Amino acid sequence: MKILMVSSEAFPLAKAGGLGDVVSALGRALRHAGHDVRLLIPRYRGLAAASDSMVAAPLCVDLGDRRYCCAVWETRLPDSRESHGVPTYLLEYNDFFDRSGIYGDTAAHWYPDNPLRFALLSRAASVLCRTINWIPDVFHSHDWPSALVSVYHRLFETEGPLAGCGSILSIHNLGYQGHAPLHDLSLLGIPSEQIASSGLQSGDGLNLLQGGISCAHQVVTVSPRYALEIADPQFGFGLDPLIRARNSHVTGIINGIDYEVWDPGSDPLIPYHYDVHDMAGKQRNREILQMEMGLLPSPAPAVIGMVSRLTGQKGLYELCDPQHGILERILETLPVQVVVLGTGEAEIENCLLQKAERYPNLSVRIGYEERLAHLIEAGSDLFLMPSRYEPCGLNQMYSLRYGTVPVVTRVGGLADTVTPCDATGDTGTGFFIEGTSPWLIFDAVEAAVALRHDNPAAFARLRARGMEQRFPWEASAHAYTEIYRRAALPDTRASRRSSSPR
Ligand code: ADP
Ligand code: GLC
Repeated sequence: MKILMVSSEAFPLAKAGGLGDVVSALGRALRHAGHDVRLLIPRYRGLAAASDSMVAAPLCVDLGDRRYCCAVWETRLPDSRESHGVPTYLLEYNDFFDRSGIYGDTAAHWYPDNPLRFALLSRAASVLCRTINWIPDVFHSHDWPSALVSVYHRLFETEGPLAGCGSILSIHNLGYQGHAPLHDLSLLGIPSEQIASSGLQSGDGLNLLQGGISCAHQVVTVSPRYALEIADPQFGFGLDPLIRARNSHVTGIINGIDYEVWDPGSDPLIPYHYDVHDMAGKQRNREILQMEMGLLPSPAPAVIGMVSRLTGQKGLYELCDPQHGILERILETLPVQVVVLGTGEAEIENCLLQKAERYPNLSVRIGYEERLAHLIEAGSDLFLMPSRYEPCGLNQMYSLRYGTVPVVTRVGGLADTVTPCDATGDTGTGFFIEGTSPWLIFDAVEAAVALRHDNPAAFARLRARGMEQRFPWEASAHAYTEIYRRAALPDTRASRRSSSPR
């Protein structure tokens, strides 16, 4: 099939979180399966050097009564299996994309014109296809930044070469929806008489993700459990009625992990390689991690790693809240060393930094560092993810692969990829936090630390079971292909209109 993926992130060109990893790995897996898959992302600052050749210039995109004249460059994603990886188009429009950061100049401060920036990316998708005369079978967009691809397709491609294309939207995180004021409608290029069929209106504003969910032929979430959860008000962020209305078009497909990037046997970002048969390298990585993070070089305490966006989603308030946070209790009463790498909300960053000054067994690095993220996976004994919700989560899968036992909440993709270990340590692959109370985080960490301390042989078997798990992208890419076929069928297209709640 011919597939155009439109995304705000694609590793290693642009990544703020798991979305970047997933888009590139899925693209690669689809290409290995023989599909003609291509990517479209913005040409952010710093990508000029990666822009190998110019494909279209000018590429003029009309949004309402404004015309944006852009240029499109082509590069290839790196791929160790072939010399030419996934073709990737980079949309150049410097007023919008030649800025620091992807969504804002810091993780906590987003650019106010983001809806317009990513509307341009979304609208450019079909203009580009027509210009280069490459007509995909499906457009595949990801999260709110490219959700408008489905909206524009539904409203504006009712005839012509793109009318027969299917459109798929993957929801990686319903917590971010892309809001804009109602009066931005014309700026986004939507005629006011088409607002109802766009699905964009939410109260007295616009909601880009809602529009995408309403208009896409098929909607995918990044784990089966999350597909069920978001139909419930607890996890629906207000969109659960729409998800329920589109229920027969929503499918959960678990993300895979990219073993070209995340394999302790060959990872170029870790000092010592190891595998399930020879764990000596993990021990050495642990020593290096302790040294680099200024922790006592002792084998006794359990090293607990965290690599995370520092937000409420990731359970950071349950750890850090001045009154109820449980991190201090963990640091004071359990034989642990905790290593945190992340960026995010200033309040959480400051709280972690202050605690790190008080507790010698806590080390915090504020920043985004690919190399350190790999070292933490390789050098830790346990990996903590107390997420309030987690559409899929990649780090628990990386942790399993790296022999780092995950301690996770029983939500979303965490529940789909980790299986519970009992007190003997003879079943399962990790430990579950059985609810949202901070004390339940403590209980799960305590159980994991106790097993490691009291029964090292059982802990080693638990680790080995995790390392033997596989989350191959090939299987997920195969499941996506089925969704693409469904989306490209004309009879499923008709039904999206009747199932829209508005
Ligand atoms: P999310 O996409 O919600 O942030 P995931 O678990 O799906 O969560 O993916 C997060 C990805 O981003 C992982 O690859 C993780 O290693 C990476 N990551 C997150 N924060 C950092 C950081 N501060 N430095 C390096 N990598 C990070
Ligand atoms: C999101 C989710 C995360 C998921 C990632 C990739 O950012 O928060 O759970 O793993 O996207 O799909």
